[in-house]
Amino acid sequence: MVDTTISLPVTATTTAPAANEDKWSSQMYSKHASFVPALGAPVVQLLAPQTHERILDLGAGDGILTLDLEKQCQSVVAIDASADMIEAARRNGCRDAQVVDGHDLVDHVELANGQFDAVFSSAALHWMKKDPVRVIQGVHKCLKPGGRFVAECGGYMNVAEVRTGLHWALKKRGYNPEEYDPWFFPGVQTYRKMLEEQGFRVESIELIPRLTKLNTDVAGWIDTFGFSFLKPFEGDKEERKKVIDEVQANLPFSEDDGVWHIMYQRLRFKAIKA
Ligand code: BEZ
Repeated sequence: MVDTTISLPVTATTTAPAANEDKWSSQMYSKHASFVPALGAPVVQLLAPQTHERILDLGAGDGILTLDLEKQCQSVVAIDASADMIEAARRNGCRDAQVVDGHDLVDHVELANGQFDAVFSSAALHWMKKDPVRVIQGVHKCLKPGGRFVAECGGYMNVAEVRTGLHWALKKRGYNPEEYDPWFFPGVQTYRKMLEEQGFRVESIELIPRLTKLNTDVAGWIDTFGFSFLKPFEGDKEERKKVIDEVQANLPFSEDDGVWHIMYQRLRFKAIKA
């Protein structure tokens, strides 16, 4: 039986992870999250890449979707903040894969030069929480006039059951979960406004609920994606595992006949550089 009681908040002092700390593991990703690129077809369809086009894949991860784009257009530059993911992208065969954080695009001499027909992003923008406006500004600088920004990311209420579970688990142990929460899940109006204020015309933007079947279970998902929340327990493997198991145990309705699901909310949009 998992203890779910809330103890009196004591202020814990472990620091939140540095934004540039690379906690990504391409191995964990392919074991627990291969469904992520596999579910990217609708946003690739919305992008509708053309054979003559030059495309920037922002937050390309291990490059599985990049390879798909490479077959459909002239060239793709894949960028990701994680060196481990970019190494995996190169191993997987991506022709041009570079370690670049989306926040740094705006100052990037080679990429932010108005040469791209489109910037594409799948399941990545929600990790760029530090300054989402700066990320949009960078995308804008990369695009030709009339170029398009087509993306899908977590939106308002994304993975809310697991996120809430992680918040409770940290609160109960005296930590402020806000400090460890790495995700930015905007609603339609919030993100539309951000795009418009940075010079985009929004052609479409919607929030799409997607019940998502996991490769393994919620514990495997947290182990892969929840590293920021687990930072306070890095030196204590037992407590780290206890937190993961506790969050999963508190989600009995996420499992049906041995198959685990999480309720995703996809924010999908197409915006044009005005
Ligand atoms: C997402 O794709 O929505 C997502 C993936 C991992 C962690 C959080 C959100």
